[in-house]
Amino acid sequence: MIAKLREIYSLLSRAEKRRLWLLLCLMLLATLIEVVGVGSVFPLLQLLSAPERFAQGPVAVRLQALGLTSVREITLLLIGVFAGFLVLSNLLSVLVLSESSRFAWNNWRNVAIRAFRHYLQRPYGFFLGRNSADLTKVVIQDSEFLGYGVLLPLLQIAAKLLVIAALGVTLLAIEPVATLLLLVLFSAAYGAFSLYSHHKVRAVAAASQSGRTRATRVAAEAFRGIKDLKIFDRSDFFVRQFARETAPVPNAERSMFLLGSAPRYYLEAVTIALVLGGLATAVLLQLDLAAWLPSVGLFVVAGYRMLPLFSQGYLNLNTLLARLVMADTMLADLRAHGESAPAPERPAGAAGPVRIALEDVSFTYAGTAAPALRKVSLVLEPGQKIGLLGRSGGGKSTLIDVLLTLLEPQSGGIRMGAAPIDRSNAHRLRSRIGYVPQSIFLLDRSILANIAFGVDEEDADLPAVVKAAAQADIHAFIASLELGYRTLVGEQGVRLSGGQRQRLGIARALYGDPPVIVFDEATSALDAETEAAVMAAIDRLEGKTVVIAAHRLSALRRCDAVYEVRDGRLIHLGRGDALDRGAA
Ligand SMILES: Nc1ncnc2c1ncn2[C@@H]1O[C@H](COP(=O)(O)OP(=O)(O)O)[C@@H](O)[C@H]1O
Ligand SMILES: [Mg+2]
Repeated sequence: MIAKLREIYSLLSRAEKRRLWLLLCLMLLATLIEVVGVGSVFPLLQLLSAPERFAQGPVAVRLQALGLTSVREITLLLIGVFAGFLVLSNLLSVLVLSESSRFAWNNWRNVAIRAFRHYLQRPYGFFLGRNSADLTKVVIQDSEFLGYGVLLPLLQIAAKLLVIAALGVTLLAIEPVATLLLLVLFSAAYGAFSLYSHHKVRAVAAASQSGRTRATRVAAEAFRGIKDLKIFDRSDFFVRQFARETAPVPNAERSMFLLGSAPRYYLEAVTIALVLGGLATAVLLQLDLAAWLPSVGLFVVAGYRMLPLFSQGYLNLNTLLARLVMADTMLADLRAHGESAPAPERPAGAAGPVRIALEDVSFTYAGTAAPALRKVSLVLEPGQKIGLLGRSGGGKSTLIDVLLTLLEPQSGGIRMGAAPIDRSNAHRLRSRIGYVPQSIFLLDRSILANIAFGVDEEDADLPAVVKAAAQADIHAFIASLELGYRTLVGEQGVRLSGGQRQRLGIARALYGDPPVIVFDEATSALDAETEAAVMAAIDRLEGKTVVIAAHRLSALRRCDAVYEVRDGRLIHLGRGDALDRGAA
């Protein structure tokens, strides 16, 4: 646990660390005021119970030296001091609450931002093995455990320990024997309980966390696949699954809460038993209770302050333990990859034509035995049109993803011009390639924002967007819309037809005027007429290097060279027009 806390501390920026320590200092101050306030009740009670004896005591002598002689004046003064400290201490407590919650929530935000950036910078291969709903939950919710759920309880525990320690020392100075006795009894009582509960808390926290993660996944999948849910009338199936995944959560949360809160009642019982036992002893021994009143009063006030601290502190500790378990995925991910440098932004402006060569590339997906690419070599000369033909599963998409530097080949490599491409300069290659996949990913924003992808609408180069749309043969359609380029497309472009989505994807790839455009089955899902129109738009791309993957020869008619991709190998077939004529 200590190691994990240190890890979390090391995630804080320097400013955050400074704020953390400032907050602790503020808490210390609040504590001091509180202790002095509690301490001042002792002379007050002494005074009220036995004014004559108090008049000879050390406090009275000092006050008399200051010119306060009458017992009444001194009593009023002490009452005033007591009340003043009480008010001040409560005001400070509110300040501490406000500042610690400010700190914790700001910290949550920073952790969430850092985690979001961290995940986005993982290589593409990382995401092939992870569920997007899980990652969303980690970034939004688990970051809360780490940023808020751990630090706030930790601060609260620290503050409570400070108060308890300070009150303890005060009590120790005034009534050493009774304090020590109580201390031992309390520690034993808490220790016994925590031995049992901490182990259990970890287990139930893990159960609650995994239930929530799986439920999040079910919900995300259901909403993403809403059309299929409707068509197959399967909403109930997902609701039942959701109910099943969330089933362990209430019990786990109840256990966690109970394990944190139950000691309070247990300790209250212990305390009352002690007090009653003490009273009975005093009666039995026929002791003078009046003489004990100040000490008893002191313990009552201190106990009144300390008992809730003990039980809240215990609850905080339980919460802390649980949150540490819940933040495990995130901590492990951050630990495994370390902080990476911010990804370079795609440079603005057009890039010149370029020769790209794949050399003896082999690639095997993680967790699979057979390679998806076996020693593939392919040269893309500037302005050349290359066709990749093959049945589904042959390796076309894998080849293209390697070309896009999304996947890192296990052997072989890529050259751009003469320069070998590696992780450090891969973004330079990517900036020269436009990519159109089979299903276009669309943001739930305007057409403009979708063509000028990842750019604020105000910063988008409108003439370039219009030019790209015209090249993709969709400008006329957009211009016919009431809101034109500001038309919202809906989530995943639900307000557009398949052909329109595809052409938007082409416009996005063309925006920025890259010298190379890659189509991965970009027209395979379209009807013949729409495909022909989209292909005609592709044909008009003069001077660009084009790579087209398709499973129909008809889509590759204009290619200078067509290769078949089968079992991860490339077989040169010939020119597209000759092949098409031969097939016809
Ligand atoms: N993420 C992945 N993990 C494991 N295997 C994969 C993954 N993606 C694709 N494959 C496998 O790699 C092979 C090539 O797939 P792919 O390149 O998508 O073929 P194509 O695009 O020609 O249809 C297939 O056998 C496929 O099952
Ligand atoms: Mg494919």
